[in-house]
Amino acid sequence: MQTATTLAALRTASSALRSSGSLALVPTMGALHEGHLTLVREARAAAEHVAVSIFVNPRQFGENEDLDAYPRQMARDSALLEAEGVALLWAPAPEEVYPPGYATNISVSRISDDLCGADRPGHFDGVATVVCKLFNQVQPDLAFFGEKDWQQLAVIRRMARDLDLTLPHVDAIRGVPIVREADGLARSSRNAYLTSSQRAAAAALPRQMETAIARLVAGERADAVLSDLAGELLEAGFDSVDYADLRRGSDLVPASDAAPGNRLFVAARIGGTRLIDNMPVA
Ligand code: PAJ
Repeated sequence: MQTATTLAALRTASSALRSSGSLALVPTMGALHEGHLTLVREARAAAEHVAVSIFVNPRQFGENEDLDAYPRQMARDSALLEAEGVALLWAPAPEEVYPPGYATNISVSRISDDLCGADRPGHFDGVATVVCKLFNQVQPDLAFFGEKDWQQLAVIRRMARDLDLTLPHVDAIRGVPIVREADGLARSSRNAYLTSSQRAAAAALPRQMETAIARLVAGERADAVLSDLAGELLEAGFDSVDYADLRRGSDLVPASDAAPGNRLFVAARIGGTRLIDNMPVA
């Protein structure tokens, strides 16, 4: 595995790889876990070569968020990626991505505005901007993202279509199903912030979402089901529920029943940690 930390080195390495087969990109912020590694395996199955980026993107963190505390484990991550057969690790310093004078922002309206966008103003601008840059830097044929961050995936797909990004396939942006712990909690780098009692309580999130979905499928009214879901999470030990919402999966337009394609989206806080999850209702 080659590691590039400058744009010049990256360009040389990625064009060499592209000349001998297709190249898939898996963008990450490091602190890799099974969720990330599943994306890498899917990428390996779909393309000749895999590039992974590790970049803790300052522009997607709000002022009171965990940018400084975000786990950084480059040596461990690099060994994990090497073992997965990754060809290229792109690990730039912040100044390489945002040099002095940097002034451009990509903002994908509407789809970025509510759910996580409402609780984290500017977050999806930061994501769209860095992902557009990563596509331009690495120039992959395919790119892999987790459905764990469903809204992020929807924002990136919208941006790629709107800006005519030149990923060669119509379905070049691939979504990978959520990887979960044995008790159902979605894998996340932020789970490491939980104390053992918070971690035990956190399993209520997927469990109560499943209960809510069963009630929706049985034809119960969405508003009653969603408010019960929020109540159950608070009862189980969550401190607050940012949202518990039913949406059409493709464009996040509000939905009110268990029609095919609709999904349940929840963000809730336990201690200082914000957890998100989403599931199809049918
Ligand atoms: P990060 O949180 O490191 O996640 C990198 C990728 O792994 C994302 O596409 C995310 O959805 C996916 N992922 C994380 N946990 C997962 C799980 N349990 N199951 C499936 N996929 C999972 O998301 C980001 O980084 C950043 O916003 C990024 C896209 C890299 C832009 O900075």
